[in-house]
Amino acid sequence: MRTIVSLFIFVFFLLGCSKDEPKISNRWYTQPQVAIGQKVFQNNCAACHGYNAQATVNWKKPLNDGSYPPPPLNGTAHTWHHPMGVLKRTIRKGGAPLGGKMPPFEDKLSEEEIEAVIAYFQSKWESEIYEVWKNKINK
Ligand code: HEC
Repeated sequence: MRTIVSLFIFVFFLLGCSKDEPKISNRWYTQPQVAIGQKVFQNNCAACHGYNAQATVNWKKPLNDGSYPPPPLNGTAHTWHHPMGVLKRTIRKGGAPLGGKMPPFEDKLSEEEIEAVIAYFQSKWESEIYEVWKNKINK
């Protein structure tokens, strides 16, 4: 009995781990890019977008001043509707060109760092979302 209980706990432990594993196979980026991107993200983006790119849950609800809170970048919001060029431009120029609040990063991050940070948050996208992005959005 005890063995069975331990086995169950172990299986759940594995399931729990695999959920947070960065998704890399069949994607445009590599594991080292995701690792660099994670650092770039923690240092530059996490304060607004959350440590796991999960903030803000109520991203569709405007703030009192009419602007929007930082959306989740982890594939649960709208980010996958943007092709690569738009993602890069948003990070380079920030939200100002569209009346938003996100600061620009073109003077802070290199092209490689911007690509790595995109790799990092895309590594959280479920396969279904990534495939739609790859085949329909980012053609
Ligand atoms: C000061 C807070 C803040 C920081 C820091 C910040 N963002 Fe944002 N981000 C926002 C807000 C707010 C928006 C929503 C649009 C707007 O208001 O500009 C946004 C929007 C975005 C979008 C568009 C998402 C979508 O679903 O359309 C992307 C991509 C993005 N941010 C990536 C990043 C990355 C990568 C970093 C770090 C290099 C970063 N942001 C740092 C606040 C921030």
